[in-house]
Amino acid sequence: MKKSIFLLFLFSICLIGNAQNNPYSIIPQPTKFSRSEGTFALSNTTYIMGREEQAIIDFDEKINNLMGFSMLKNAANISQNANFIVFELDKKLPREAYNLTVTPKKISVSASGDAGFFYAIQTLYQLMPAEVYGKKMLNMKQISIPACTVYDEPRFSYRGSHLDVARYFIGLDYVKKHLDLMAQYKLNYFHWHLTDDQGWRIEIKQYPKLQEIASMRKQTWIGHYNNNDGYDGKPHGGYFTQEEIKEIVKYAEARHITVIPEIEMPGHATAAIAAYPELSCTGEQYDVAGTWGVLETVFCPSETTIQFLKNVLDEVIPLFPNSPYIHLGGDECPKTRWKECPKCQKLIAEKGLKDEYELQSYFMNIMAQYVISKGKKVIGWDEVLEGGIPDDIIIMSWQGEAGAIDAANLNHESIMCPSAYLYLDYYQGEPESEPLAIGGFIPLAKVYNFDPIPKELPEDKHHYILGPQANLWREYLPDSKQVEYMLFPRLCALAEIAWSPKELRNFPDFINRLNHHFDILTIENVNYSRSHFNVKATVGWNTEFQKPEVSLVTACPDCEIRYNISSDNSKKTTSIVYTKPFIIQSDASLSAAAYKNGKLFSSVYKESFSLSKSTGKSYEMKNVNPQYNGGHALALTDGIIGDQFSWNKWVGTLGNDLDVVLDLDKIEEVNQISMNFLHCPGSWIFAPKDVTLYISDDKVNWKKIETKDLSNYQTISNQQLLDIDFKLEKNMKIRYIKVTATSLKKCPVGHAGAGYDCHLFINEIIVK
Ligand code: ACM
Ligand code: ZN
Repeated sequence: MKKSIFLLFLFSICLIGNAQNNPYSIIPQPTKFSRSEGTFALSNTTYIMGREEQAIIDFDEKINNLMGFSMLKNAANISQNANFIVFELDKKLPREAYNLTVTPKKISVSASGDAGFFYAIQTLYQLMPAEVYGKKMLNMKQISIPACTVYDEPRFSYRGSHLDVARYFIGLDYVKKHLDLMAQYKLNYFHWHLTDDQGWRIEIKQYPKLQEIASMRKQTWIGHYNNNDGYDGKPHGGYFTQEEIKEIVKYAEARHITVIPEIEMPGHATAAIAAYPELSCTGEQYDVAGTWGVLETVFCPSETTIQFLKNVLDEVIPLFPNSPYIHLGGDECPKTRWKECPKCQKLIAEKGLKDEYELQSYFMNIMAQYVISKGKKVIGWDEVLEGGIPDDIIIMSWQGEAGAIDAANLNHESIMCPSAYLYLDYYQGEPESEPLAIGGFIPLAKVYNFDPIPKELPEDKHHYILGPQANLWREYLPDSKQVEYMLFPRLCALAEIAWSPKELRNFPDFINRLNHHFDILTIENVNYSRSHFNVKATVGWNTEFQKPEVSLVTACPDCEIRYNISSDNSKKTTSIVYTKPFIIQSDASLSAAAYKNGKLFSSVYKESFSLSKSTGKSYEMKNVNPQYNGGHALALTDGIIGDQFSWNKWVGTLGNDLDVVLDLDKIEEVNQISMNFLHCPGSWIFAPKDVTLYISDDKVNWKKIETKDLSNYQTISNQQLLDIDFKLEKNMKIRYIKVTATSLKKCPVGHAGAGYDCHLFINEIIVK
C-alpha cells in the first residue's frame, strides 16, 4: 500500500549514559528547564492546594491510590514537616503551557486552565520513580521529586498519532491504553483510521450490512504481500459500536486528546462495496479484502455513493462533537474502474472535467463541502492535491514533504507525516533481526532527527504546518504487542519533535532520558523495542590479510557484545566477548548480540559472509540512487548478500539503467561471475529486462561474454530473488568486469505506480 519506500541506512551510535537513570528524564524535553538542589518528598504531610481542575482532582486521587493516604487540604494546623503542592491560575499563559517549580519545601504549578495543569502533572509524574506508573499501591512512605524549574509550551499545536484499526480490529482496551500513552507524552490528536478494504469498523445504524458484512473478512493473506504464501482460512473482524466510539471520545477528551475519525473515500473502499455493491462502478459482488496493497475496487463517484457517504457522515459527525476535523481519506485511488465506467465518463463530460483526477477532485469537493456545512474542517491525504485542491482541505502530507509545501504555498494548512520518516510500521532495525514488517527502514534516530518544518518553506508559511503525526498501518501488526513494539520508543521521539523547541534536540541526551522511560513502559506492560541497541556490524577490508574485517557496535552504553562465528571449515561455535575488530577467514555465519548484566538485551544480529575473488575490491557504478546506495562504498563486494528484506544492502538505480565496473586489482583466473537482482513489484522494484557481462584486462577494450534475457520476470507480480550466473571458459584471465542491465525505467501499465520511475536493485557481485 505504500508507494516508493524510502530507506536510508543510518548507523547512529551513541555511547553515553550511565547505569543510574537520570532523575530529570522528561520526554518531551521541556521548553525551558533548569535543575536545582535538593528534592521534594511527597508524603502524608504534603498539602495539595489552590485549584480544583479535573487534572488536579485526578492527580490527587492517583497519589491516594498509590500511597494509601490523601494529600492534606485543610491548612489550619500546619506541622513543621509540611510541604506544599500549590496550583495557581495564570490566565496569561497559552492554553497548553505551564510553569512548574520544585523546591524541597514547595511545588508550584501555574497554568491557564485544565490542559496546562494536565501537562504539568505529566511532567511531575516523569520526575517521580517509574513505579508511580503502576496500578498497585506502592510500598514506600514518600515519593522523591528532584528540584527544578520548568517553563513549558508545545512547539506545534497538532501532535498526532494515527492508528489503523481496519487492517486488524483491535479492541477498546488497547485503544484506551494507546490514548493513555499518547497523553503521557503530550500528544493531542488521535487519528483513527476506521475504514479500509479489509474492514469497516464503525457502526452505522442506517446501513446494517456494514456491521454484518463489511466488518468481517473470510481470511487473511499469510506473510508479506510480495510473497505468495496463500491465505490463513480464518475469519477476522470486529467493529466499534456507536456507544463504544462515544466512550473512546470521552476517554480521550479527559486526556486532552481530540479523536479524528477517518472514513476513507473514494479508494480503499472494498469492505463497504462488499456490503453494498451498488457503490462500485460495476455493481459486481466482491468479498471484503483479505490481501494488502492498493486495490482497484473503489467507490464510483455516483449520486448513489454520494448519498450513502452523506448518510454515513450524518451518523459519524455527531459522535465526535469536540473534533474540529473529519478525515475523508482520498489516497491511493486507482482510476482503472472509472476509466471503463459509463457513469464516471458521463460525469466527466457533463461537468467539463479534464480526466479521472479531476473527477476525484470534483467528488472530494462535494464530500468536503458537505462536512464543512456541518461545521467541521476536512483533512485529506496528499493525493487530494492531484487534479486541483478542493477548497478548505487540510493536507496530510504522507508521500513526502512536497504535499505540505505545496499546500502551504497555496495557503492551506497541513499535517506532516512523510512515510520516509514517520511511518512507524516500517522496520526500525535490521530486517533479519526484526519481526516481519512492510519494508522501509526508519530507526529511532531518523524519527528523532526529522524536522516537521521543511527547510525550503519560507518563514511566513511555517504556520501552515500544524504539526507532525506518526502513522501506524497494521497489515503486519495483528495484535497489541506488535503495535506497541513498532510504536515504542519511536513515538517518544515523535513526541519530542512535536513538542520541544528544535534548538534543544539532542539525540544522545534523548537516549539517556529514554532509560527511565523503558522502566516506565515496562511497568505499564508496554512491549517496547530495543532495536536501537541491536549490534551493528561494519565490514571493512583488512589490507594486511586481504580479508574482510568486521567491527561490532551497540548503542547500549553498559552492554557487552558477544558473538558467534561458524565457518564451513570449522563447525564449532564459540561465544566470544567482542573487544576488537576481527577477520572473516572464509565463508561464515556470524551472530552477535548486546548483553546487559549477563542477560540478552538486544535482538540477535545475524549475517552470512560469502567470500570470493571480488571481496573487498572497488567498483564504479553509474546513476546510483542515493537513497539505496548499499550504505558504503563496497556494498557490492563486501561479502554480504542482501536478502529480500534487507534493502539497505542493495544498491539501486531509479528510472536508470545499471552500469558497474569492478576492478579485481590484478589479473585473476576466473571461472564464474554471479550477481543478484531483486524483483519486488509491490515496492516498485523490478528485475532488469536484460543483463550483460563484459570483461577486460585494460578497462579500454571490453569483450562481451553474454546478454541474458530476463524479460519474463516483468509479468511476475510476486517477490523474487534472481541469482544470475555467468559461466566462463575455464580459468579465464581477467582484471576488469563490467555488468550492464536494462532497467524497465517506469512502472508498467496496470501497476499501481504506472508511469512513475521504478527501482532496479543489484547486490553482491561474486567472482570465483
Ligand atoms: C497512505 O499511506 N496510503 C496514506
Ligand atoms: Zn463509476
